[in-house]
Amino acid sequence: MLNVALPKGRLGEKVYKMLEKAGYSCEDMLKDTRKLVFTDEKSGVSYFWVKPSDVTVYVEHGVADIGVAGKDILAESQADVYELLDLKTGKCRMCVASVNGFREDTSRPLRVATKFPRVAEKFYASKNRDIEVIKLYGSIELAPILGLSDVIVDIVETGTTLRENNMCVLEEIFHISARLIANKARYKFKRNEVDAAVARLKKEIPDD
Ligand code: PRP
Repeated sequence: MLNVALPKGRLGEKVYKMLEKAGYSCEDMLKDTRKLVFTDEKSGVSYFWVKPSDVTVYVEHGVADIGVAGKDILAESQADVYELLDLKTGKCRMCVASVNGFREDTSRPLRVATKFPRVAEKFYASKNRDIEVIKLYGSIELAPILGLSDVIVDIVETGTTLRENNMCVLEEIFHISARLIANKARYKFKRNEVDAAVARLKKEIPDD
């Protein structure tokens, strides 16, 4: 039995459809229910719907053998897991953004609002720029609009949120897509099963 942690939401549903096509279907997975664990003996798979930012925790602790997490979450969590496959879906970018016309005052630390403090710290450390991180949990774009921060480090997908709030991308930090990850010890233990899943899933990855 392969235990798989999937991120609840649109990305998880998309990836589940890839897994289904790859032969790992599980009845009722996409039904509108509050159930969290789904097992299919025939497919040899057990799925858990997990909050996206918690997938790395379930995989790192080994209660899930494998899981699916965005590169943003992997970078922020610094989880000690194997990254097996780029699923080439859920594509977006980690960016620095601010209000149109923003001018940086280099004489003082830059105030950076973000859900991704480690990503922000690492990025600015590489540029030798002092920052003050302001950790937020959502609607990050509000911070520079209201003067809480100078810039944000956040995900940009279509760019609509920035555009509609008179903001723009200042710098791109890295590209994001969903990755298949594995617990290191569980991978050794279930190597044949996991490798078979990777091989079958590879065929379902969309073309670039
Ligand atoms: C994410 C991100 C941006 C938005 C970008 O927020 O933090 O706010 O999506 O998408 P866009 O470029 O297509 O407009 P999310 O929807 O996850 O909600 P949040 O603000 O609660 O984090």
